[in-house]
Amino acid sequence: MKVAGKHTRSIWVEPDGWSVGVIDQTLLPHRFATIRLETLNDVVRAIVSMQVRGAPLIGAAAAYGVCLALRADVSDESLDRAYAALLATRPTAINLKWALDEMLAAVRNRPRAERAGAAYRRAAEICDQDVAINQAIGRNGLALIETIAARKKHGEPVNVLTHCNAGWLATVDVGTALAPIYIAHDAGIPLHVWVDETRPRNQGAALTAWELGQHGVPHAVIADNAGGHLMQHGAVDIAIVGADRVAANGDAANKIGTYLKALAATDNRVPFYVALPSPTIDFTVADGVTGIPIEQRSGEEVATMSGITSDGRIETVRVVPNGSAVANYGFDVTPARLITGLITERGVVAASHEALAKAFPERCDAAK
Ligand code: MRU
Repeated sequence: MKVAGKHTRSIWVEPDGWSVGVIDQTLLPHRFATIRLETLNDVVRAIVSMQVRGAPLIGAAAAYGVCLALRADVSDESLDRAYAALLATRPTAINLKWALDEMLAAVRNRPRAERAGAAYRRAAEICDQDVAINQAIGRNGLALIETIAARKKHGEPVNVLTHCNAGWLATVDVGTALAPIYIAHDAGIPLHVWVDETRPRNQGAALTAWELGQHGVPHAVIADNAGGHLMQHGAVDIAIVGADRVAANGDAANKIGTYLKALAATDNRVPFYVALPSPTIDFTVADGVTGIPIEQRSGEEVATMSGITSDGRIETVRVVPNGSAVANYGFDVTPARLITGLITERGVVAASHEALAKAFPERCDAAK
């Protein structure tokens, strides 16, 4: 994707050939700044603090975390330590475990002298694979938008609602839920995106709005609770969201508030799609509502908000009375029955075990 006209991925190996560059997403949309990760601990900190976030990007960053750990120490102990430290960073996005398992498989049985090189090669492949998958998700989701556009009169835009940020910032490039939107926009289909602000971390207001703006896609940020009202009044043609983990039965975990949008969409007969790359599927969890672990983060994220002052300082202010208890659930699970379809790299499939197993038999078999 382009930032100020320049092609940018969300993660890269720096010109020194070993340290890892990422965008500090905690500063967007106010400041575009990149940071250099040099150690395993740098990567752990970046994931925990959400300087890098979004399920596929968390996986890619973890892959490079293994590289940096092996660069410092190629022993089995170092590999195990890196695996455990990275896995503990965030519990809901299964792409993290997927990427760590891929890295383990790529290096574990190699002579020590070859491990770091093999790790960097596999991490780069994981990144390239993510981009290719997302391009396919974009193409497959485009057909849904084209069908709606064909029904519109006088060039009216297709109104898409999205929650959180499942764009290129959440992946290595292109995005998942936003991929069909970018492709449709580039193909000249008139579009308008309703962007849920996505409290408490405001990934919609801060990141999705910024991304769409960089790409020139018309959009409006709405308060998290506005979606139901808009759907009731015919202002949403389709909802497309991302996912952090999709269970074998098609239940999908995504940023807190997604479930409420799916309920409103179902009540208003608005098609509700979840876009996901196959590493987001967890065939080991039979039922998402009961089986997917939900991250709980610091209450400070709910009690405070950050933004930019008129003189350009990024400040955090408190919005909850001192002394009030605060709870911060990071994700919720949308039951498969509320999902119209899953947009994957292998096509749009039903949110069901049967359809997922048919589309991804090798993943399904590997989980047995
Ligand atoms: O807490 P975050 O910002 O990492 O949560 C991100 C989301 O919920 C995204 O929708 C999800 O990871 C899909 S990203 C392609």
